[in-house]
Amino acid sequence: MSEFKVKPTGAFSAEMTVPGDKSISHRAVIFGAMSNGPCEISGFLPSEDCIATVNALRALGIKIEELESDERGPVRLLVHGKKGEFKKPDKPIDCGNSGTAMRLLCGALAHLPFRIDLIGDDSLSTRPMGRVIDPLGQMGVSIKGTGKNRTAPLSLVGTTELKTITYDMPMASAQVKSAILLAGLRAHGRTQVIEPAQSRDHTERMLKYFLVKTLREGNTVSTWGGQTPESRDFAVPGDISSAAFWIVAAAARPGAHLLIRNVGLNPTRSGILKTLVRMGAHISEFVEETEGEPYGNIEVHGTTLKGVEIAGDEIPNVIDEIPVLAVAAALAEGTTIIRDAKELRVKESDRISTTAENLRRLGVPVQEFIDGMEITGGETLKGTTLESMGDHRIAMAFAIAGLFATGETVINDVDCVNTSYPGFGEELLQLSSSQN
Ligand code: S3P
Repeated sequence: MSEFKVKPTGAFSAEMTVPGDKSISHRAVIFGAMSNGPCEISGFLPSEDCIATVNALRALGIKIEELESDERGPVRLLVHGKKGEFKKPDKPIDCGNSGTAMRLLCGALAHLPFRIDLIGDDSLSTRPMGRVIDPLGQMGVSIKGTGKNRTAPLSLVGTTELKTITYDMPMASAQVKSAILLAGLRAHGRTQVIEPAQSRDHTERMLKYFLVKTLREGNTVSTWGGQTPESRDFAVPGDISSAAFWIVAAAARPGAHLLIRNVGLNPTRSGILKTLVRMGAHISEFVEETEGEPYGNIEVHGTTLKGVEIAGDEIPNVIDEIPVLAVAAALAEGTTIIRDAKELRVKESDRISTTAENLRRLGVPVQEFIDGMEITGGETLKGTTLESMGDHRIAMAFAIAGLFATGETVINDVDCVNTSYPGFGEELLQLSSSQN
């Protein structure tokens, strides 16, 4: 198990790209497999999570060729779609650490009338699966979580007679919404998902891109069964959730300058930019609209940030960025209050407690709530030893904190960053040495 050793840096000037978007990479290969022919996926994220989805699809009989690789792994794939006619895998499908892989696959496999088991690592095996078991069960899938409280391992037997549903989703979850919409492609008629607040809309955009009819009316998304995604090539933009670490590093450092190129700027994902601007950050977005996902460049000029409240409908849009926003809050003047973010407790770690604990160890006053925390900014961060708790976003958020702390900050157990951002450690080293 490796560690990050981070030293304080001054203002830096950098220009960079980040690896492909994790959410979009999972979906691109799943849609490719469900389509009616070959789809070339470029900009694919070769992280452990996305490779778990590729391996799952291969185990289900889908041929996926690696057309191009970089030092991190395969970045351009050719997925040979078979209209979702998957074969029975020989053994349980291992989703590793990935909630997206497990939950989306449940939807994509809902029409298969044979048993498939899905397993995950220790963290994934504690995460709630009732949220996909319930709606897919209503559609006629025989699915159960054999772990404690209906967690993974999951055993699933689908049906060719899937029923349509109108599902009032209890939480704003793009994974749950996606599982239902993917299953809905095989049901007879209209499937509807009502979201309590809008979650990321990559699945709806991808349905449209693959020429499948969908409709959004307010917070209700519909699709119609009997449609096969039309095979097309797809370009995955850089991951704004990965860019978020460097954006905070620059935004909170007076004198710093950062330009990130070719990053996803989907408005259901770019909430962190708006939140940071409310905190006083100097950030510009240059958006290119495309048929698939909007993308473009982000430019940041560092300044002193101020505390704000982060709550309500804004939360689903920044859910993965809250650990690094909490670090920004610690560096800001004044108090930041985060509320309505109870979902953080069921991520790769309990991110409310792991974030609060690491901030406290750095000397930041934090009060934890059931659905968030209050952070008093402006104290000098004191370098110390921190734990990632096996959570990639905690490891990376606190590596950024280390750039602002006195002395040395050690983050233990950081191999987990490979689940979403292979190469993060190398970028961190490079950034530390690119001071103005
Ligand atoms: C994701 C949705 C979010 C997010 C996760 C990826 C997706 O989870 O936290 O990292 O790709 O759909 P929920 O849908 O559970 O909120």
